[in-house]
Amino acid sequence: MLELVLMVLDLNEIERLALKELSQAKTGAALEKIRIKYFGRRRGILQNVTKQIPKLPKEQKAGIGTKINKLRTKLEQLLNQQAKPVSIKKESSVDLTTPGKEIDLGGTHPLTSVIDEVKEIFHSLGFSWIDGPEVELDAYNFQKLNMPQNHPARDVQQTYYINDELLLRTHTSSMQVRYMEDHKPPIRVLFPGRCYRRDMPDSTHLPSFYQIEGLLIDDASKMSDLIGTLDYFAKSFFGKNLKTRVYGHHFAYTEPSIEMEVYYPGKGWLEILGAGMVNPIVLKNGRIDPNKFRGWAFGMGPDRLALLKYGISDIRSLYNSDLRFLKQF
Ligand code: DAH
Repeated sequence: MLELVLMVLDLNEIERLALKELSQAKTGAALEKIRIKYFGRRRGILQNVTKQIPKLPKEQKAGIGTKINKLRTKLEQLLNQQAKPVSIKKESSVDLTTPGKEIDLGGTHPLTSVIDEVKEIFHSLGFSWIDGPEVELDAYNFQKLNMPQNHPARDVQQTYYINDELLLRTHTSSMQVRYMEDHKPPIRVLFPGRCYRRDMPDSTHLPSFYQIEGLLIDDASKMSDLIGTLDYFAKSFFGKNLKTRVYGHHFAYTEPSIEMEVYYPGKGWLEILGAGMVNPIVLKNGRIDPNKFRGWAFGMGPDRLALLKYGISDIRSLYNSDLRFLKQF
């Protein structure tokens, strides 16, 4: 009986002491010391008290065990509770209310968006697309397109020559005969890509720019299909209320040839592309029989389309990588 009283007293005393120490502990290390002092496996105070239990008379053992367990649970809870604020305090040099650093995410360049949109519109009409070489043979850029050496039509295409045979392609029309040589009709394909001309940079010209060429070859295509398709394209791209018009033009590789203009409120009629029925000479150069097949082609500048669509006044802003400009798209 005496022993039990002593142990109960001890437990009360142990609890009082532990609570006092806990209230004074300010660091994680101090808390750890308390944990070892009371819960340590070998010398922990609670462990030692528990060891006394077998020495007690049988009928008193259960009661004292429960009390020790309660004290153990209580101290454990307090230790854990106190440990949390301490560990947060450790990280508290980080101010959780400070606004985060903005992570710059890349976006699609307006020119890429325009090219993608053109592809998508023509894709719905059954067109696929393919890249081609920017360093091109004079043969594909000019000769096979019915522009032999010294042909006057070459003059307007201020060409960068690499040597007598090689040049930087001046237009994506260079892909027409290349593609015909490797593919049999029916053909419906776009050739998007970069072109080069010796132009002085200004608000509407750059020595490097983009074009998207279209080529369709089958056994029944007509000029009216071409005009209808281009009108459908322009309305899909700019909006269904857009007005378009075409007029006769001249390109050596199409016969007859046209240009298309769109009406831009405030600016009037603006040319957006050249087109025409593929010249039989060009079909022959592409090893396609002009007596069996016919086709049409067009070439447009996505730079020009981007300027019109987004109301950009200077073509150079599409290329100078100014994030203040690019982030608007
Ligand atoms: N190649 C022409 C240019 O660079 C555009 C063009 C006109 C492409 C008529 C064509 C076409 O396919 O039929 O201005």
